[in-house]
Amino acid sequence: MECRKLIIQSNRPLNAAVWEMKLYGENLTSAPGQFIELEVPDCCLKRPFSVADCREDVLTILYKVVGEGTKKMTALAEGNKVCALTNLGKGFDSSSSVQPLLVGGGIGAAPLYFLAKEFAKKGIQPVILLAFRCAEEIYYMDEFDEVGNVLISTDNGSLGFQGNALDALKEYSPNFDIYFACGPLPMLRALAGFSDKGQLSLEARMGCGFGACMGCSIITVSGPKRVCKEGPVFAAGEVIF
Ligand SMILES: Cc1cc2nc3c(=O)[nH]c(=O)nc-3n(C[C@H](O)[C@H](O)[C@H](O)COP(=O)(O)OP(=O)(O)OC[C@H]3O[C@@H](n4cnc5c(N)ncnc54)[C@H](O)[C@@H]3O)c2cc1C
Ligand code: FES
Repeated sequence: MECRKLIIQSNRPLNAAVWEMKLYGENLTSAPGQFIELEVPDCCLKRPFSVADCREDVLTILYKVVGEGTKKMTALAEGNKVCALTNLGKGFDSSSSVQPLLVGGGIGAAPLYFLAKEFAKKGIQPVILLAFRCAEEIYYMDEFDEVGNVLISTDNGSLGFQGNALDALKEYSPNFDIYFACGPLPMLRALAGFSDKGQLSLEARMGCGFGACMGCSIITVSGPKRVCKEGPVFAAGEVIF
């Protein structure tokens, strides 16, 4: 597994906690739902981040500052070089969806931007339900607006429907053939209970990030599976929560 050297093209805050980092490297490719493992200075383990966009040699990640590693990432400046494992995991299978519904909770919306753009390229406008705790936590609103029909919910009602993602889904009741979701585990569990016509992008604490350590295993109906290798995207009916 080769660690690629990438150059930071930009690294900027989008709100009080979420940052956008653009990384440059020749012939970068990725599919929506895949992730990278980024080496952070002075941290022994790499950190996994979903690909939020990838085009013309530039790969974008959106990250929430939650601890030591992500705090250090905010200090990385334009022109700095970082190492990353790229093209990791199995992404969303969007090939058979013509009426997609994308459901993102908090920072979980990040990989859905890439997916929404892929649908838009095929002439399909997805419904994108974005759930946040409050209006101040919203990011990429204009970007999502350009590629889909955006619905918002906030826990405190400061913007859009007041309530969680599942309550909002029941309220807005959009038509869909397959839903594609990423967000906190309780949200994914609730969605899987609501409908099995979906794909869920899961998170787990990771060691290697490419299938070697088994550190990220989850239980599925067909036995243990590694989030980094067989996932992070799983069929909604497959995961045992
Ligand atoms: C496949 C995958 C894709 C991800 N995509 C994104 C993304 O696009 N944007 C983003 O902001 N984050 C994403 N994450 C989570 C991100 O990797 C962690 O937030 C990050 O590694 C935290 O590093 P830290 O050193 O700042 O925090 P730490 O100091 O290591 O931990 C701080 C807190 O964050 C929690 N945490 C750390 N890692 C994880 C994890 N992997 N899953 C759940 N909780 C964790 C810890 O339990 C602790 O409470 C993803 C995780 C996975 C597995
Ligand atoms: S993180 Fe090592 S197997 Fe998934």
